[in-house]
Amino acid sequence: MSILRAALFAPLVAAATLSQHQTVRRRASELDKAYDFVIAGGGTTGLTIADRLSEAFPERNVLVIEYGDNVYAPGVFDPPQVIWRGEGGESSPAWTFISLPAPDVLNRTAFVLAGQSLGGSSCINGQFFDRPSRWDFEAWNQLQKPENDESDPQWDWDGIYEYFKRASPSQNHLMKSSRSTAILGTQPSTAAPPHLRELPPFLWDDNDVIRDAFLELGAPELTECSGGDKNGVCWVPTSAHPVTFRRSHAGLGHYAAIQERPNYHVLLNHQVTRVVYGKGCAAKAPPFVEVRSLGDDSVFNVTARLEVVISAGTFHTPTILQRSGIGPSDFLEELEWNYTEPADWSPLPVDMLKDDFLADAVAGFNETPARGPYTLAMANLALFLSLPLITPNILPTPAYRDDPTLIAGYEHQLLVLADLLENPEAPSLESPYATAGTSIPSFLLHPLSRGTVRLDPAKPLDQPIVDYRTASNPVDLDLHLAHVKYLRGVFDTPTVQQYKPVVTVPADDVTSDDDLIQFIKETMVFSYMHPCCTAAMLPREKGGVVGTDLRVHGAKGLRVADISVLPILPSSHTSAQAYAIGEKVNQETRFQ
Ligand SMILES: Cc1cc2nc3c(=O)[nH]c(=O)nc-3n(C[C@H](O)[C@H](O)[C@H](O)COP(=O)(O)OP(=O)(O)OC[C@H]3O[C@@H](n4cnc5c(N)ncnc54)[C@H](O)[C@@H]3O)c2cc1C
Ligand SMILES: *[C@@H]1O[C@H](CO)[C@@H](O)[C@H](O)[C@H]1NC(C)=O
Ligand SMILES: *[C@@H]1O[C@H](CO)[C@@H](O)[C@H](O)[C@H]1NC(C)=O
Ligand SMILES: *[C@@H]1O[C@H](CO)[C@@H](O)[C@H](O)[C@H]1NC(C)=O
Repeated sequence: MSILRAALFAPLVAAATLSQHQTVRRRASELDKAYDFVIAGGGTTGLTIADRLSEAFPERNVLVIEYGDNVYAPGVFDPPQVIWRGEGGESSPAWTFISLPAPDVLNRTAFVLAGQSLGGSSCINGQFFDRPSRWDFEAWNQLQKPENDESDPQWDWDGIYEYFKRASPSQNHLMKSSRSTAILGTQPSTAAPPHLRELPPFLWDDNDVIRDAFLELGAPELTECSGGDKNGVCWVPTSAHPVTFRRSHAGLGHYAAIQERPNYHVLLNHQVTRVVYGKGCAAKAPPFVEVRSLGDDSVFNVTARLEVVISAGTFHTPTILQRSGIGPSDFLEELEWNYTEPADWSPLPVDMLKDDFLADAVAGFNETPARGPYTLAMANLALFLSLPLITPNILPTPAYRDDPTLIAGYEHQLLVLADLLENPEAPSLESPYATAGTSIPSFLLHPLSRGTVRLDPAKPLDQPIVDYRTASNPVDLDLHLAHVKYLRGVFDTPTVQQYKPVVTVPADDVTSDDDLIQFIKETMVFSYMHPCCTAAMLPREKGGVVGTDLRVHGAKGLRVADISVLPILPSSHTSAQAYAIGEKVNQETRFQ
């Protein structure tokens, strides 16, 4: 780190370092003899559950076991963001490894990234904080039928919406419609803030250009999209404190910022290796949780009296289950362009390359209330659009592997996804954007391809083998093609035409559908940081891992609660979903 960067960075580190609670444990000898609830993974969902449980049951003790530490982990857009200068960014404690190559997209591999500190991926994510479409949950619920009925927990919109509200109370009054008014419409939340969601006090000067272009293309205009209706151009808040605009994450909201509780313990720098049932007691008691110290490699068991919850995230929850002997993807590529006759926009992201502008941006972020570009994270505007508003329907066709329950589950998913993709109110495409004149990403919200996460037999305690199988269902390429052709329409809109755009990516000669498919194969990202569904909530006969109460099929005292339980990807980024799952587990399902 350069001296300048170190100097810029120091105050932020100091401000953002989490308080060291007395309840932090670092050794087996510091633990209680047994815990009522043991949670494997102190991430977004795991800490939500631990907070709510330790609050609801003061006489019961809760232990969270986290691989990482209680440290400040700079997020992808956190200041003093060196990615603006192409210097790569501050390195964060994170899980990073490479996927298997995907043969259907030219054998390219993906960089796998997930959070690895108290708070998990919410510590490093892009702070784009939206909620899914109601139609996602109608689809989730259909996937549970006919095996589950009305007496089981419901995951339709009515069955989950309340928990999104509980997870982010301040978000239910977001406004508004254009650059000048967008930022004024929010009220800071006064509720105890696990995670606040607000629009930032800053947007780049050309922010409305593509927004207007989307509206000119015919996309419906929505003032905000958190109430279940999400087909159109949306304002999206940032998960941040409304005054300081410091990142809000689970390590703060569900641990450091709460009153100290003697019954809430966190064991750091330990890996949950597996859960093991004692001889003969599988029918009666929850499993032991086997833990490895990263410090001295010692292995020991933690006893859970009531329940074990695995919340280790999409890539690592399956590794714990697989080590215990207990039994998919979205995409992105971008259109890029330059304006040959831009308006007099100022400032623009390119200004971050100027020392004085950057220094002022950092200074502004350290003021209270915070101001300036660092109050922006990923983006605050996005297009969500259904397939019927883009193109006539493309019907999905099956393609999968050898396990009959997985095939049954996949076939059911394709039927439900066909309905979802035919629904003119259910988004199929997302295109978030922070500023115009650079690029428009295109996310496939409901890919039909399915991948796998498996233990590496040679290194079972190490990273799993991740095989996204991107575009293994070729319909995904057709869906992508339809989305990209639609998005290209923005260049022909009157608003964008004013500034004489020249499209730079894809190149001029990429015009035919075949050329565009090739371009998509070359550029599509395997997951837009929303990997999910690796321990899916589906009936056992359909290859599911957990039921609608999130209990692992056939296992006593064991649940999974994190983004791995999603049956299919929702039409949203996934952190709000992770919090809402934590809230729903606590509130609705009986722990004892
Ligand atoms: C770079 C990036 C950008 C993103 N951007 C956005 C965004 O802008 N908006 C949005 O809504 N979502 C975004 N997401 C997605 C979102 O943050 C995640 O889906 C969500 O936080 C996942 O929550 P989780 O509870 O499933 O897992 P996590 O929060 O990842 O928690 C899992 C925890 O388990 C720990 N762990 C793993 N294995 C073990 C083990 N064996 N023993 C003990 N502990 C273990 C991990 O260290 C981690 O702390 C992004 C994700 C990433 C990685
Ligand atoms: C991908 O790799 C496989 C196995 O190595 C090889 O057979 C195939 O030709 C490769 N495909 C491409 C497009 O390079
Ligand atoms: C944990 O308990 C299980 C079940 O009794 C046992 O098989 C395993 O050996 C124990 N592990 C350790 C490290 O003691
Ligand atoms: C687009 O703009 C960038 C940055 O100003 C410049 O480097 C590049 O040459 C431009 N490309 C075209 C095709 O005009």
